[in-house]
Amino acid sequence: MKSTTHALISILAAALTASADDVKSFNLTRTLSSPISQRHVPQFVSYSFEPAFWAEFFGEPDAPRNLTFTLLNHLHERGARPIIRAGGITMDSMVYDPDQKLSVVRTENGKGGIYRTTVGPAFYRQWNNFPEGTTFVSTLNFGNNSVDIAKGLAAASHQFQQDKIIYYELGNEPTNYPTSRWQGSTAAYVSQWKSFTSQINAATNNTSHGKWWASSATTDRTALKVRPSDLIPAGINTTGEVGQYSIHSYAFATCDPDRERRATTANILNHTDLLRYANEEIYPSAKAALDIGATWAIGEFNSIACSGKPGVSDTFAQALWTADVELIYAVRNATSVHLHQGATLVFQSSQQLNTPGDDGTPGFSSYSLLYPIDTSKRGEARVLPVFVSQLLVTETLSGGARIAALKTPAGVDEKGFSAYGVFGESGKMEKMVVLNMKPFYAGGTPGTVTLDIGEHGGATVKRMTAPSVDEKDSARVTWAGQSFRDGKAVGEVKVEVLGANEKIAVRDSEGVLVLFK
Ligand SMILES: *[C@@H]1O[C@H](CO)[C@@H](O)[C@H](O)[C@H]1NC(C)=O
Ligand SMILES: *[C@@H]1O[C@H](CO)[C@@H](O)[C@H](O)[C@H]1NC(C)=O
Ligand SMILES: *[C@@H]1O[C@H](CO)[C@@H](O)[C@H](O)[C@H]1NC(C)=O
Ligand SMILES: *[C@@H]1O[C@H](CO)[C@@H](O)[C@H](O)[C@H]1NC(C)=O
Ligand SMILES: *[C@@H]1O[C@H](CO)[C@@H](O)[C@H](O)[C@H]1NC(C)=O
Ligand SMILES: *[C@@H]1O[C@H](CO)[C@@H](O)[C@H](O)[C@H]1NC(C)=O
Ligand SMILES: *[C@@H]1O[C@H](CO)[C@@H](O)[C@H](O)[C@H]1NC(C)=O
Ligand SMILES: *[C@@H]1O[C@H](CO)[C@@H](O)[C@H](O)[C@H]1NC(C)=O
Repeated sequence: MKSTTHALISILAAALTASADDVKSFNLTRTLSSPISQRHVPQFVSYSFEPAFWAEFFGEPDAPRNLTFTLLNHLHERGARPIIRAGGITMDSMVYDPDQKLSVVRTENGKGGIYRTTVGPAFYRQWNNFPEGTTFVSTLNFGNNSVDIAKGLAAASHQFQQDKIIYYELGNEPTNYPTSRWQGSTAAYVSQWKSFTSQINAATNNTSHGKWWASSATTDRTALKVRPSDLIPAGINTTGEVGQYSIHSYAFATCDPDRERRATTANILNHTDLLRYANEEIYPSAKAALDIGATWAIGEFNSIACSGKPGVSDTFAQALWTADVELIYAVRNATSVHLHQGATLVFQSSQQLNTPGDDGTPGFSSYSLLYPIDTSKRGEARVLPVFVSQLLVTETLSGGARIAALKTPAGVDEKGFSAYGVFGESGKMEKMVVLNMKPFYAGGTPGTVTLDIGEHGGATVKRMTAPSVDEKDSARVTWAGQSFRDGKAVGEVKVEVLGANEKIAVRDSEGVLVLFK
């Protein structure tokens, strides 16, 4: 594969390093504040796409949406192999119709409320347009409480793409189902899940046996307790169906006015709070899986549930948030994290901030990597500022890297700072990531932390930056000097050079990947 992006490397002197006496510097002591993770796989950076809007993101088999594929190609060029989950709320009203010509047809009311998402053979054939090596989660409808509907989807995915299916998933976020379904009983849920999965295996010639994702729960406080930490002791795997545990992560939301008020740039970039959520809400489930030798994934996540918040999730803040949260879960040994992509779902909440476009056309989620087509609601198709975070995380974890969190330097506020050490085969710290999460808004004066990163024999630095944290124009948001507004990399790769033992400067609302010699 041609890698023009990496061919043109211009070396810049590290002009930002400390020289003036008035620059205060801090010691990033390289002291670990977490255990070192497992070795990461090329599937770590992964995605979840709402099935109802699949065709808007990917097109039809003979008419691919190039913008989305161009972004996936940038990741593949860097060695990533994202797993694609065609998942989300609309998978729970998804049905298969062997006679349907289009890949996806939504059955809606006039205001964009989706009653049903019908997929045809083209939906599965279209998976052939993805880059070589892409695998998929075959998602099945549990919401309609019909083994036949779920079997229809399983059989079709098996018929067309059995070699590309890495996991099967039955139902999205059972925590959000009507309480009448299982009356808040974990045992009732487990029993029905086992009954469905064993019946569906027959529809896949048994190839789904042992390949099921289990849980797919949210961390909302609900009567039904079905996180992996609940399902494992409840015996979800006594029939040997579970391939991996999956949980959903949404710490913020615009589903109601109360939570909308709290979904601010300052709050989503509070690193201390991101750690609190990961440790209190997610890690107990991760640990329950790890303790029995199982693997776990964040099957779906994003910054702000109910399609994001314009002015926050469509700005450079989302890039800092995504980089930090993905690395937080990398430290906690997730094997993949599926960043959710989609559009406003009318039936999700009666009091949410977001709405679809005029006449029910999609109101794409402002936390997505891109707006895949022109719409009245979001304007012209384009890539959003968050995309550069995917390049940072991919390059950080490439080559089977292991990662650990680093202690916040004395004198630096933990809520605005995050740092990681990355270890290769040799066990040496080969890379370091520093995210200065402190919001620097347009019109303000940014601070800069200058860090003594310990003795080193020189390093190169790739920087993720934007004019300010609230920047919305991805043409002004760069990773190693390149921007990606229309998908293609614009500009030459810029790598800064640090001399031996030289310090590194990171402006507020900026991140760096330091690659030691
Ligand atoms: C950083 O550590 C070095 C070596 O231990 C020490 O000499 C220096 O004073 C420290 N600087 C700060 C700002 O703590
Ligand atoms: C991640 O896995 C490694 C083993 O590969 C283990 O040493 C470490 O404790 C785990 N980390 C967490 C946070 O569970
Ligand atoms: C999308 O890419 C394909 C294959 O490279 C190309 O044939 C097609 O013209 C492109 N479509 C658009 C709309 O650019
Ligand atoms: C599936 O459930 C949804 C939501 O309850 C309902 O609107 C739809 O009609 C059902 N579809 C089928 C095929 O039963
Ligand atoms: C079903 O599985 C068996 C055993 O693996 C295999 O021989 C057979 O070809 C499969 N049938 C279909 C329809 O895939
Ligand atoms: C499906 O696989 C399981 C586990 O290998 C096995 O017990 C069962 O007999 C298989 N069923 C069929 C129909 O092949
Ligand atoms: C589920 O049980 C089967 C059979 O005992 C086992 O092979 C598999 O590893 C278990 N799955 C997980 C995720 O622990
Ligand atoms: C940041 O998060 C921590 C942990 O949840 C919380 O105690 C603190 O008040 C938050 N800081 C701000 C400024 O919101």
